[in-house]
Amino acid sequence: MVETLKHDVVIVGSGLAGLRAAIEAARASGGKSDIAVVTKVQAMRSHSVSAEGGTAAVLYPELGDSLESHEFDTVKGSDYLADQDAVERFVKAMPGEIYQLDHWGLPWSRKEDGRIAQRWFGGYSYPRATYAEDKVGFFEMQTLYDTATKYDNIHFYQEWFVTSIIAEGGEFRGFTAIEMKTGGFAQILGKAGILATGGSGRLYSFATYGYSSTPDGMATAYRAGIPLKDMEFIQFHPSGLIPSGILITEAVRGEGGVLVNNQGERFMKRYAPNKLDLASRDVVSRAMMTEIEEGRGFKDEATGLDYIHLDFSPIGAEKIKARLTQIREIAIKFRGIDPVEKPLPVKPVCHYVMGGIDTNIDGATKLKGLWAAGEAACVSINGSNRLGANSTAECLVWGKITGAEAAKYAEGKSKPSPTGESAQLEEKRIFDGIFHGKGGTNPYEVRDTIQKEMDKNVFVYRTGEGLGNALRKIRELKAKDFLHCEDKSRVYNTNLSDVLEVESMLTVAEVVIAGALARTESRGAHARRDFPERDDKNWLKHTLAFPGPDGPRLDYSAVTITKYQPAERHY
Ligand code: FUM
Repeated sequence: MVETLKHDVVIVGSGLAGLRAAIEAARASGGKSDIAVVTKVQAMRSHSVSAEGGTAAVLYPELGDSLESHEFDTVKGSDYLADQDAVERFVKAMPGEIYQLDHWGLPWSRKEDGRIAQRWFGGYSYPRATYAEDKVGFFEMQTLYDTATKYDNIHFYQEWFVTSIIAEGGEFRGFTAIEMKTGGFAQILGKAGILATGGSGRLYSFATYGYSSTPDGMATAYRAGIPLKDMEFIQFHPSGLIPSGILITEAVRGEGGVLVNNQGERFMKRYAPNKLDLASRDVVSRAMMTEIEEGRGFKDEATGLDYIHLDFSPIGAEKIKARLTQIREIAIKFRGIDPVEKPLPVKPVCHYVMGGIDTNIDGATKLKGLWAAGEAACVSINGSNRLGANSTAECLVWGKITGAEAAKYAEGKSKPSPTGESAQLEEKRIFDGIFHGKGGTNPYEVRDTIQKEMDKNVFVYRTGEGLGNALRKIRELKAKDFLHCEDKSRVYNTNLSDVLEVESMLTVAEVVIAGALARTESRGAHARRDFPERDDKNWLKHTLAFPGPDGPRLDYSAVTITKYQPAERHY
């Protein structure tokens, strides 16, 4: 039986973008709108909580920073694929978000004079990463969650797994979802919806992401005919701890830490003579992989993993203990190394997806009544390479924008009424098809194979041959009968949610690889060995992937260029 629940605005995802959207929607309506936040985890376990190093904003123009500088750094970092109107709106909105969080109680780290502290990050012309030690995500989430719980008109559905979008007559009507606790199935109807389901980094096994960061939201939108944009651009953060992949924040380099090869050389001086270890992430990750490939890396005997040293010694023990407390604890607990004493073994690691659900500058998708925000969305301010600390910032800005837009849209509409048969069909697909399904292929093996292919062939450096192999493998997997469930209990069936996650991984992996194979140039984080140059003549355009009968159908759209003409990047 399909239960029917009704709200004015239904938000999927409880990370920074989802919570910021909920608060804005609740405020925008003067407390009158009824807002639902549906999340497959407990809200405070959303992956945003693990953000570490900072949130970018121009706070001190009187000391030399400027909105133009933040704008230019972001556009240059994006390798000119960002939409510049969106970037301009973003940098203008950010200072207000920092002060808003401050007023809601976020304990930002402070300078000696009491003002909010900021630090350097890669690709910056000014230290504008606003921080709270090295636990920015935790403090931002806690502040937003506390604030959201003050609103009686925000209703949380925690541990509900959304499976599809309900649309009728070209308009959003709601979502279908499984209540994990009971195994019940519901349609959660809304006048407006927002997808804020985060990134899809668990397409890779070596990733900084929580295990929950699978592309369910992106796949759900895609299945509903909403295109995914620029999915071939995956960010590899230079410092994933060996062997777990846990993020070692860029703030380590922002505070003075350096990357060193097995010759004891600070090699970044050969790749980025001006910015050194604080070049943009794509540049640093490529340099590290080149050092490793040319024999100047280290090898972890236990795992066979190659790595580079991240040397904290220039920072000094006092600063490490005061500003990098969490990183020190992680290094000791997960690697047995105190970075005050010894360098950490690190390697480029999947950290962010620049692409996402295609939206306009207001975060609106092409389905009327549905918005998307945060890492799930592609507005796009990140183009082909995001600058550090612009992600938590983007979640705040487009969380607020989409929350306000969705609430405004919902205001004039009447309460949603139960829909036709789409929820029943989805219930059949999930329970008759998957829960009671039979099949010979283990879905967990499918997941492992996807991750291995992505780790191997869709990493920092790519080739047509490797991408072609990966695409063939993904298509072989798609043809297998893995959509079935061993666990036959309805109560908290994580086997069922795992299978749904694997389905979404397969769908989105195919989109990523197809876009990467088609893009015969190198731009930002997409580095093709067989096409090493950026090709503005043919490829200064966004990729749009639509679902087709035999896999993604690719189309392209123009990049909005306002102030900054594409130029060669140097750091
Ligand atoms: O290194 C970091 O702290 C990551 C920040 C980011 O991706 O924005």
